[in-house]
Amino acid sequence: MAFKTITQLFDLQNKTAIVSGGSMGIGRSIVDRLSEAGAAVVIADIDIERGEQTKKEFTEKGRKVEFIATDVSNLEDIDKAINRSIEKYGILDILVNNAGIFPFMPAMNMTEPVWKRVLDINLKGTFFFSQKAAQKMIEKGKNGKIINIASIDAFHPTGNLAHYDASKGGVVMMTRSLALEWGKYGILVNAIAPGGIQTPGATQSSAEMIKASGMKPEQVADMGKAFTARIPLGRQGEPDEIATVALFLASEAAKYITGETIIVDGGYLLS
Ligand SMILES: NC(=O)c1ccc[n+]([C@@H]2O[C@H](COP(=O)([O-])OP(=O)(O)OC[C@H]3O[C@@H](n4cnc5c(N)ncnc54)[C@H](O)[C@@H]3O)[C@@H](O)[C@H]2O)c1
Repeated sequence: MAFKTITQLFDLQNKTAIVSGGSMGIGRSIVDRLSEAGAAVVIADIDIERGEQTKKEFTEKGRKVEFIATDVSNLEDIDKAINRSIEKYGILDILVNNAGIFPFMPAMNMTEPVWKRVLDINLKGTFFFSQKAAQKMIEKGKNGKIINIASIDAFHPTGNLAHYDASKGGVVMMTRSLALEWGKYGILVNAIAPGGIQTPGATQSSAEMIKASGMKPEQVADMGKAFTARIPLGRQGEPDEIATVALFLASEAAKYITGETIIVDGGYLLS
């Protein structure tokens, strides 16, 4: 096997990636790192205004970044995002299933619409985006990388997130199932389980928690402090600390890893 230099290992030129939920938060940082490494990156996000703005910011820096309005819970939207990416770039090499929602809701107050929306976006969306991407990867020849963004909640409940925890537990096991089935096509399927990462979604979640649980803002703030106090590295993570791991999994440096979930939580689950 030819030996590659570090620069060659992390070079993603001539690769095409789709990042769902790439308009903001963790997804935006993943778009940043993959496009910095040379990939053409398509943001598939439901937020049109923010998606167009993010595309503009990256293209102004000379990156190859596109935006396609996509609701990952809608199979027609998934088809459209994949077909348009292939029309434009000819191939799909990398899919990052990052789009996800985490509305806090005590299990006792759970409603069917909230349960369904969370499972449809986080689990069903991840499955069908992967299936449709894998079909195209196989059509174009054997190869491809699928990276799913799970959560430490797949392993340890934060509280008031039973629906979300079920979806992310599903993502971890589905990652292993797909890796087992698709290894023969050269498609590697891995996941990242972030801990507490400071993103717009995480800030909004705290506000929703106050509404959904009837807790006082101080109580929610205390919960946040207690969470951070448990992190051995003493702080919450930055989106780029997930993006660099996604870059590793998307690169040739990780070409013998499949079915794995890398926990990136500053050691939270150790405590
Ligand atoms: N922030 C954290 O602490 C944390 C921890 C563990 C896991 N995660 C996971 O990381 C991922 C990103 O989280 P984040 O904190 O960056 O969230 P965020 O809310 O800041 O950003 C999420 C992005 O996904 C998009 N999105 C939402 N629903 C969509 C849909 N139906 N179709 C397409 N796009 C959609 C949003 O428009 C947004 O751009 C999620 O899967 C989340 O569960 C986050």
